[in-house]
Amino acid sequence: MENFVFQSPTRIIFGKGSEEEAGKETKKFTNKVLLHYGGQSIKKFGLYDKVIKSLKNENIEIFELGGVKPNPRLDLVYEGIKICRQKNINFILAVGGGSVIDSAKAIAAGVKYDGDVWDFYISDKKAPQFLPVGVVLTIPAAGSETSNGSVITKEDEKLKKAYVDENMRPVFAILNPELTFTLPKEQTLYGISDILAHGLERYFTNSKNVDFSDRLIEGAFKSLIKNTYIVLEKPLDYAARAEIMWIGLLIHNGILGMGRIEDWGSHMIEHEISAIYDIAHGAGLSIVFPAWMKYVYKHDINRFAQFAVRVFGAETYFGEEERMALEGISKLRNFYKEVGLPVSLKDVNIPDTYLEEMAKKCTADGPVGKFVELEEKDVLSILKLALK
Ligand code: NZQ
Ligand code: ZN
Repeated sequence: MENFVFQSPTRIIFGKGSEEEAGKETKKFTNKVLLHYGGQSIKKFGLYDKVIKSLKNENIEIFELGGVKPNPRLDLVYEGIKICRQKNINFILAVGGGSVIDSAKAIAAGVKYDGDVWDFYISDKKAPQFLPVGVVLTIPAAGSETSNGSVITKEDEKLKKAYVDENMRPVFAILNPELTFTLPKEQTLYGISDILAHGLERYFTNSKNVDFSDRLIEGAFKSLIKNTYIVLEKPLDYAARAEIMWIGLLIHNGILGMGRIEDWGSHMIEHEISAIYDIAHGAGLSIVFPAWMKYVYKHDINRFAQFAVRVFGAETYFGEEERMALEGISKLRNFYKEVGLPVSLKDVNIPDTYLEEMAKKCTADGPVGKFVELEEKDVLSILKLALK
């Protein structure tokens, strides 16, 4: 097990009706808030009115910035920074999914910085100070509600970049699984794919003696898969929605990766796909992961065999670990397919036009991934494997 330090400052408020606490939680930090949200969903399904009421009950002055798009854009971040500076706002309440939260985190990083907030996404520079961010989560997926990261797209350059900083973890996260009842089937699935991917990035490690966290991640996978089938059948099943929401948070707040060196190569490859084609992050991940696995499994066949047996209950063939490893990869791919996630670039109508460009951009700062370090040619091979 590797040495580690872990601290998560996010207060988690979980359960039915918890969005009504938004005002009280916000009031602990401020009398003036920037309410940040996405497109239509929060107004359409009544959450907007509830949050406004909760804030007004606490006499909090509200400024608003909606319009965050999936794969959130830098332009709106600049607008948010401008509003916070002009109105002297020192707290951001993000109501939505990973895109809204990541946009809020970017605004929070930029307000007290004289330079361009994009610097943090493309260099080692760190924000001198963050405004505190609170969250009301509406989709279990990105894990941004407690994570230390933010991912922003600079549209004109087709760049999608992550900024990781321990100081950007939200101060509170409100999670009511009932709010996820309104998710369309495909959004539910994209979220589940992302959650699964956050486990996979941590599971495939070269760190030794990580049995406990192996088991935690495997448990998360098993529960996630089981509850995926339940919500597909019964979208209003509170218990299943609650399990998925809790797994989504815990699998990406850092704790399941402690003591292990995490991979993240597949996420880097996916970001190149969604930067150019603007597909959902979860859709990109269910395409990239099976291809990545096929490309790297020989690096540690036993770990892949363990994954197959413990997560998917694959048959144990003593002395035939490679057969088991391959069975695990095909079971994961079949799971994606069966629930309705794309498993190839063809499934989302992406041709081979920009594969070279993606591989080049992906490795512009050096190899990606830690389980196996991938150079440009490796990323290109994985993208080619993902074609069909
Ligand atoms: O915009 P609205 O109308 O609100 O609709 C949203 C959006 O279209 C809809 N939605 C959200 N909650 C809903 C709902 N529709 C009905 N009912 C609800 N309750 O869902 C759509 C997708 O929302 P989005 O926020 O984009 O989804 P997600 O949470 O998957 O976030 C994706 C972004 O997070 C980044 C991804 O790269 C991507 O940009 N990630 C962030 C991470 C982090 N900060 O730690 C880590 C992840 O690996 C990921 O990279
Ligand atoms: Zn992700």
